[in-house]
Amino acid sequence: MCRGAPSNAVPFAPMDDLPEHARINRTVWDEYATEYATYARRNWARPEMAWGIWNIPEAEVGMLPPGGVQGLDVIELGCGTAYVSGWLAARGARPVGIDNSPRQLETARACQAEFGLAFPLHLANAESLPFPDASFDLAISEYGACLWADPHRWVPEAARVLRPGGRLAFLTNSTLMYLTVPFVSGGATQTLLRPQFGMGRITWGGDPGVEFHLPHGEWIDLLHASGFQVERLVELRAPDGDPADERFDTASRGWARQWPSEEVWIARRLG
Ligand SMILES: C[S@@+](CC[C@H](N)C(=O)[O-])C[C@H]1O[C@@H](n2cnc3c(N)ncnc32)[C@H](O)[C@@H]1O
Repeated sequence: MCRGAPSNAVPFAPMDDLPEHARINRTVWDEYATEYATYARRNWARPEMAWGIWNIPEAEVGMLPPGGVQGLDVIELGCGTAYVSGWLAARGARPVGIDNSPRQLETARACQAEFGLAFPLHLANAESLPFPDASFDLAISEYGACLWADPHRWVPEAARVLRPGGRLAFLTNSTLMYLTVPFVSGGATQTLLRPQFGMGRITWGGDPGVEFHLPHGEWIDLLHASGFQVERLVELRAPDGDPADERFDTASRGWARQWPSEEVWIARRLG
């Protein structure tokens, strides 16, 4: 499926051609899509950009280039319902959203129509992007491909499609959260529940979805090997607030006031 595609796009390979984890994650995300549609509209309607499960304002996080996004070609890797691309389009960027789930993209298209913003959306795997080299100024992912795709595949692809000097910004679960979350259910604890050495692909108990987590040293090595210079690692602190006001059970607000539950990586594509 390829709606609103620019002329440089090629049709994406069918399900059979996807790696096993991407096939599983397509099925999983097609199932999650109904629940995510509710959050989508709330996020599309948000007047200010705010990131992650704690909705931390952009001014405090710095995902985006300090000079703004006006006129930038942006690719959102694992855009889901594409509210991030919507925010960027509303601020003068030219975003392209790619996602591996047809049903998430259906919600994204419905939101585009409801909120009166149009930009290309592609069914695609972030590990094999249907774009030529050096097509974008900014690659961004908030809990998208950066969590659900193999970093050893999607990071080099992001480097390939970015122009020299382009920015990669992604937000994912923190290493500490990965280490302390129980395997089956419940949020982050104060106990190290699994080794840091050997982090990578993981499926959590009771959930078929395949996630990928790397420790900081491996992220840095992979980013460097792929042609990036790491500029920042921002460890996000949950803002003070109502402990009951939590959308996800991955970390309580109390925990995330003491330790980072999320981290943001900012890297620059070297020329
Ligand atoms: C949590 S959503 C991220 C979107 C949004 N920022 C959010 O937080 O709701 C995760 C998205 O990543 C997509 N995804 C998973 N694996 C992917 C892959 N290999 N390539 C592209 N998208 C992928 C899923 O289909 C899903 O829509």
